[in-house]
Amino acid sequence: MVYSDANFNNKTILISGGAGFIGSNLAFYFQENYPESKIVVFDCFRSEATFSNGNLQSFGHYKNLIGFTGDIICGNINNPTDLEILNNIKFDYIFHQAAISDTRVYDQEIVMRTNINSFYWFLEKAKNDNATLVYASSAATYGSMPSPQKIGFESPDNPYGYSKYAMDQIAAKYSSLNRNTKIVGLKFFNVYGSREYFKGKTSSMVIQLGHQILNGHAPRLFEGSDKILRDFIFIDDVIQANIKACESTNSGVFNVGTGIPRSFQNIADILQKELGCNYGTEYFPNPYSGYQTHTQADISLSEENFNFKPNFSLEKGIKEYIPYIKEMFNMPLD
Ligand SMILES: NC(=O)c1ccc[n+]([C@@H]2O[C@H](COP(=O)([O-])OP(=O)(O)OC[C@H]3O[C@@H](n4cnc5c(N)ncnc54)[C@H](O)[C@@H]3O)[C@@H](O)[C@H]2O)c1
Repeated sequence: MVYSDANFNNKTILISGGAGFIGSNLAFYFQENYPESKIVVFDCFRSEATFSNGNLQSFGHYKNLIGFTGDIICGNINNPTDLEILNNIKFDYIFHQAAISDTRVYDQEIVMRTNINSFYWFLEKAKNDNATLVYASSAATYGSMPSPQKIGFESPDNPYGYSKYAMDQIAAKYSSLNRNTKIVGLKFFNVYGSREYFKGKTSSMVIQLGHQILNGHAPRLFEGSDKILRDFIFIDDVIQANIKACESTNSGVFNVGTGIPRSFQNIADILQKELGCNYGTEYFPNPYSGYQTHTQADISLSEENFNFKPNFSLEKGIKEYIPYIKEMFNMPLD
């Protein structure tokens, strides 16, 4: 499905973080719809390095890119020499997705260094190339601010959320000084869909619960999960937002959610229905403090500026997602 009238054929497109979940979906979107586009994926891919929480330091996986025929550069956004390679290419569009995407990394230095420092480079690159820059911000910038979450009312409560909040501030300042460069930040809410499997424990609860059910177990949820509501958004709608953001009337930062909060219990129930089983639900205490218990994106500005209209309800998104959930079941994570 093509989301905009813009013709990306013959355009040169950079996708940082292109071996990850959202980035690889973007890469295939362009490949499938604009065969004459030149797509460059820049990603450090996964190494074996882990954070103190036991999770990998980066989740880019070659299996997300099997079938991708564009260019691939393995590079680290923390390494100026790696970024220098990109200076040999002039880009029309830059989608900056690379980041430490794990919201439970508490080593502030590495999160800020990775997510913030390189952002200055991407801003400069966009300006010098006269490219449109679309970058990933996050609903984590809102912390526990009440719903509906609105642009301008952020209060991050973890290092990851703060790093994205800082990026938004930097982008706003940069935009005001460089009015000819289009810079659009997208605050993704809880994204689920194909090519997220290799994020392991940080993948969405949709695939994690799906695999518990396929294993013949009751889905495991925090106690009170019928009252923990989030704005879950399907990957196709996130790609829609990235594409339409290129045509945004203004630079700025915008929410990307459905605008409709749903519970974790809803996910478990829809999955069991789609998978044709009913194991009930197993509940356990929520070990986390600072846990977002209600998110709901106010998407009025996204609609106004670039006609963003989510197409997928949770029911429709999960239905569409089931074949991938089944395909990845018991797939080795390495
Ligand atoms: N998935 C979500 O629900 C969600 C929600 C809000 C915001 N986001 C943001 O969207 C973007 C994409 O998220 P995702 O879910 O695809 O995550 P992801 O972890 O799958 O993708 C991020 C990619 O960046 C790469 N990367 C990490 N550190 C790097 C480095 N130092 N140098 C080069 N590459 C590096 C990883 O290898 C990975 O491929 C991220 O910026 C994330 O913070 C995601």
